[in-house]
Amino acid sequence: MTRDALSAAVALFDGHPSAAKWHVRIRRLLSRLEDVEALVPASGNILEVGSGHGLVSLYLALAAPGRTVLGVDIDAPKVEEARRAGTVDGRVRFEVGDALALPHASFDAVVIVDVLYLLDEPGQAAVLEGVRRVLKPGGRLVWKAQDQSPAWKYRLTKTQEWITTTIGLTAGRSLTFLPRARALELMTLAGFKDAAAHPMKGRIYTDVIYTGTA
Ligand SMILES: C[S@@+](CC[C@H](N)C(=O)[O-])C[C@H]1O[C@@H](n2cnc3c(N)ncnc32)[C@H](O)[C@@H]1O
Repeated sequence: MTRDALSAAVALFDGHPSAAKWHVRIRRLLSRLEDVEALVPASGNILEVGSGHGLVSLYLALAAPGRTVLGVDIDAPKVEEARRAGTVDGRVRFEVGDALALPHASFDAVVIVDVLYLLDEPGQAAVLEGVRRVLKPGGRLVWKAQDQSPAWKYRLTKTQEWITTTIGLTAGRSLTFLPRARALELMTLAGFKDAAAHPMKGRIYTDVIYTGTA
């Protein structure tokens, strides 16, 4: 049986040290990345901001042969791990970089998955402005984040992320989950048209995917 693209991306880490191998397996189980992939254009030059171990970038490329993906992350060891996982026929590459200083290039889409809560609100606003600048006119932002409601799910979301940042699994400067209305407002202020929220139903977290057009 042919493996689906997400399983194939996870399998790229099979020979990696256990920490990375299990990290991507857990990301796959907890993050419902298929919902993100479905909102990303099927072709074009894509930037993933905060690509971590590289699972999302590799998955996006494996899911559609017309995509080329650049993943950037502030954490150099994670970028090394991502590079070890491969390039999907030269269509994926990874660089160390800060979301607040994006590469000088233009992209058809920018994908951000579970990253911006690690920056304070002005930082998130600055990243959104930078993302809009590196997108081609008509390019798409796909941004997975967490809302503040319902309250019990928000408590769970916040506690889990507090643990991962405290024990050092995730590098970040803050723990700032924006209410949905504020996230959409920041997108509009950054110059995005058609800012929209796609709540991820049936989750124990307050996950939501925002999309917008540059
Ligand atoms: C929870 S992980 C998500 C990784 C990946 N997007 C995924 O879904 O598997 C958050 C990532 O954001 C990265 N990060 C935090 N602050 C960053 C910044 N200012 N610029 C770039 N990456 C950052 C962390 O190093 C970490 O890899």
